[in-house]
Amino acid sequence: MSEPMIVCRGVWKIFGPDAVRMLETHDRSLSRAETEARTGHIIAVKDASFRVAKGECFVVMGLSGSGKSTLVRCLTRLIEPTDGKIMISGQDVTRMSRRALLTLRRNKVAMVFQHFGLFPHRKVLENISYGLEVRGVGLKDRLAKAAKILDLVGLGGWGDRYPRELSGGMQQRVGLARALAVDPEILIFDEPFSALDPLIRRDMQNELLELQNRLQKTLVFITHDFPEAIRMGDRIAIMKDGEIVQTGTSEDIVANPADSYVADFTEDVPRYKVLSAGTVMRPTALSDPGTAPVRSSDRIDSLINRLADADSALPVVDDGGAVVGEIDASIVMKAMQTTPGPALADGADCAKAEGPGGRQTGSTMIGQSAAKQSTGASIPTPKRQIRLR
Ligand SMILES: Nc1ncnc2c1ncn2[C@@H]1O[C@H](COP(=O)(O)OP(=O)(O)O)[C@@H](O)[C@H]1O
Ligand SMILES: [Mg+2]
Repeated sequence: MSEPMIVCRGVWKIFGPDAVRMLETHDRSLSRAETEARTGHIIAVKDASFRVAKGECFVVMGLSGSGKSTLVRCLTRLIEPTDGKIMISGQDVTRMSRRALLTLRRNKVAMVFQHFGLFPHRKVLENISYGLEVRGVGLKDRLAKAAKILDLVGLGGWGDRYPRELSGGMQQRVGLARALAVDPEILIFDEPFSALDPLIRRDMQNELLELQNRLQKTLVFITHDFPEAIRMGDRIAIMKDGEIVQTGTSEDIVANPADSYVADFTEDVPRYKVLSAGTVMRPTALSDPGTAPVRSSDRIDSLINRLADADSALPVVDDGGAVVGEIDASIVMKAMQTTPGPALADGADCAKAEGPGGRQTGSTMIGQSAAKQSTGASIPTPKRQIRLR
């Protein structure tokens, strides 16, 4: 596991007249609603903990008001956390001087917002080069760099236009280009595509995934849309009333939602596009992998033809080629149920570990039982793309 790029430990943000004292004296186990009723303070973020690996896309998902924007703004102290610790590249952000914070925000972390946040009176190229201008880069160099980035986001030739002359999707490309222009290690996206029409939104998601494959930045991506979270995220943290209630891969979350709030999000997800053979397989007496075994990481939708044509169960192998289970058409059909039937519920001995600030689900197995499971304490290697629809 690589050194995490971002570590967020026990972070709280409370809005109100006396937030620090309130947190010191208050019963921290009380819910947001109880706290507000008793003290008039609003818990925007409650004891949030997570880590983001270098090159990972970490999604923060939750309903409006669940604390997503506040949480990610705490990462660079655009909002000052009331308590907790934040480390970026091993540096303690919570102890940084104003000057160090400015350097961090100018050089290392860039943000993309829902409503683009472009300067209306500046042309596209001038918008993109803004961060370089702040840094003191000369006019010629910064415009040259901006033109390069403009090509990268597919807007070559639009540099002399004003933002108002561009569609919403194009404006958001400019927003992305502006963030990329300073060559940050970390990009934070706060619902960047939520204002876009569905088809444009999908294009933008795909383009960002392709860019990410090439650039391998560390991404923190906020959305309130679960299909978008699944498309974009290596892992997803789900927030509710300020708390992270579950963190895991999309497969972990779909296979084992932590509670009914999470389960509601997963209900419409086509499970065969998210679950893998290793998650739905059953234990086996087979030891011979044969000539064409199923890999444990193979997604079910890629196996449907083979399973439909097979007379008997197929062996499932791990990365080292050892047989770890078997899979057949009936297992797959049962796994497609949104609400697991008795056969699946019996096997609910999934690997689950309580991580600080929310449940962390690891590699999970629904179905009979797991041959081998990880605890979920580690950060998986980016980037596994799961694309829906
Ligand atoms: N400056 C503020 N003062 C008081 N309450 C705030 C402030 N900013 C956010 N909140 C409250 O904190 C909670 C979380 O807000 P936010 O982080 O914007 O959620 P999200 O981004 O998930 O929609 C909400 O209840 C919101 O009303
Ligand atoms: Mg928000």
